[in-house]
Amino acid sequence: MTPSNPSQTSMTMDALWLALCAAAHDEHDSSGLVVNDGESWSSTHPIADSAHDLAALFVPLLNLRNPNRPIVVGHLAQSLDGRIARMDGESHWISGEMDLDHTHRLRAFCDAVLVGAETVINDDCRLTVRRCEGPQPLRILLDPSGRISEDRKVFQDSTAPTLWIRGDAGSTSGVGGHVEVLVLPCVEGCFDIHELLSALNERGVHRLFVEGGGVTVSHFLEEGVLDRLHLAVAPLLVGEGRATLGRSLGLSLADCPRPQVSVYPMGEDWLFDCAFTRTHR
Ligand SMILES: NC(=O)c1ccc[n+]([C@@H]2O[C@H](COP(=O)([O-])OP(=O)(O)OC[C@H]3O[C@@H](n4cnc5c(N)ncnc54)[C@H](OP(=O)(O)O)[C@@H]3O)[C@@H](O)[C@H]2O)c1
Repeated sequence: MTPSNPSQTSMTMDALWLALCAAAHDEHDSSGLVVNDGESWSSTHPIADSAHDLAALFVPLLNLRNPNRPIVVGHLAQSLDGRIARMDGESHWISGEMDLDHTHRLRAFCDAVLVGAETVINDDCRLTVRRCEGPQPLRILLDPSGRISEDRKVFQDSTAPTLWIRGDAGSTSGVGGHVEVLVLPCVEGCFDIHELLSALNERGVHRLFVEGGGVTVSHFLEEGVLDRLHLAVAPLLVGEGRATLGRSLGLSLADCPRPQVSVYPMGEDWLFDCAFTRTHR
């Protein structure tokens, strides 16, 4: 990062966030933020020290591009012993306030936020942007058997559009007009992730945020289409619980993904920014 004129007022975290968000959505951006190739970037304004980690986490997401599918970034918050929830599904909250802010930023930064059926059933999450400025993403639910009940907030609260991806059309009479059903073929209960990404690409989703849970993130990782995983690790021990990544990722340790990792303090937690490239898959 190369600020060009140190005599100027430093760009605060809020100002930098607005610039990043505008750049992500191709809006006119007068911040002076210049994104170069790879991980590097520069700004015509100096950046406040407190905003450096924000830039380090989001600029690489601006730089990633793939004409054939959306860029995919995942986030999970886990305990020190690798749990994202208790066995009964309780997961509020594993990580602290700063990581929750970060999650809302990821929602606003991406065109769509995607979760698995279990997360909607357990958490009744809204998946809207409330803790930062920014646009509301398309909410996408992976629900092959149509087992999410229609009283869930994503179906009743129309703050953001919802795409309900199912294995069959079923009955959807009790959901709001903001909900669209997309039927995709399922093999042994699984959607083909590549087919799913290409359907989303056609719909104009160029950056996809996979917010969980662990089974869903694992499907993307297994298929080699997870570009980044932001893994928040909280100083908490859960014991028996739901594993961070709920599927096998390799036949031997040599096959398992070994991402390049940078670590950032995030309030009382640590954020592991895991970058996957072809050589790590
Ligand atoms: N700590 C965190 O960061 C965090 C984040 C999100 C959620 N959570 C917690 O994690 C728990 C849920 O996570 P989870 O890992 O158990 O489940 P999940 O990932 O939320 O949902 C898994 C289910 O989604 C559907 N699904 C996902 N990928 C699919 C694919 N490629 N094809 C077809 N269906 C697919 C399947 O539904 P079917 O079962 O119907 O086949 C699958 O069993 C909850 O307790 C939630 O509170 C924690």
